[in-house]
Amino acid sequence: MAPVTIAIDGPAGAGKSTVAKRVAERLNLMYVDTGAMYRAVAYLCAKEGTNVHSEKDVEALLEQHCVSFEQGEDRTLQVVIDGVDVTSRLREPEVSALVSTVAAHPRIRQLLTEWQRAFAERHSVVMDGRDIGTVVLPHATVKVFLTAAPEERARRRQEEYRRMGYHVSLEDMVKSVIERDRKDSERSIAPLRMADDAVRIDSTDKSIETVVDEIVQLVENAHVR
Ligand code: CDP
Ligand code: CDP
Repeated sequence: MAPVTIAIDGPAGAGKSTVAKRVAERLNLMYVDTGAMYRAVAYLCAKEGTNVHSEKDVEALLEQHCVSFEQGEDRTLQVVIDGVDVTSRLREPEVSALVSTVAAHPRIRQLLTEWQRAFAERHSVVMDGRDIGTVVLPHATVKVFLTAAPEERARRRQEEYRRMGYHVSLEDMVKSVIERDRKDSERSIAPLRMADDAVRIDSTDKSIETVVDEIVQLVENAHVR
């Protein structure tokens, strides 16, 4: 049987990773957080002081280091760089500030897209990101575009930062979330946009469980058809 593929795209803080992981648990599928892959590259740039605006420099950096992605426990994508597990460092504010610039480089995207497609050919998977339904898996079984109001997304991200020990005002968080969405939507290659055949779900006033139930229902309906 062909692998089942579920694509979940949307702006920062919409709830993609949380919901995608739970959908994967419910349906016993693999989960790939493609944002973690772009964050891995941004993390390496930050660590090595690489100029993130230079695609050539970022590419050269990747050639000098061994970056691997593995399915870790609890369905998280484990990122290992030169033998060191850096997964817990990927959501730090410094990485978030650089990642959209790194993700705009076509050759970096090509590299990661190839890995993502190869993975989805071998496994039934829930994949979340910005271009999964439009570019990476255009024939996905189910495509969801998950959104929420910017203030709510910023509030969620602020709470996440607070748990990591960082204090950012809600005003600054709204600004940074909107700025990242702008960069992700305006880039020329694989911009953040809803696929024509995606189902839009607004999670502003919805619990995580409600959104998970809605997506599981979409998958069940797709199988009935
Ligand atoms: O969790 P959050 O929404 O903050 O971001 P993420 O999913 O971890 O993605 C981090 C960044 O990686 C995004 O802002 C995009 O710049 C980039 N990204 C991308 O370009 N394409 C993807 N498929 C996934 C992430
Ligand atoms: O991956 P993305 O940036 O789209 O969002 P996330 O990292 O999955 O979710 C950001 C935060 O919002 C997490 O702490 C979730 O627990 C929370 N969340 C929520 O409160 N209500 C939802 N319906 C979805 C997520």
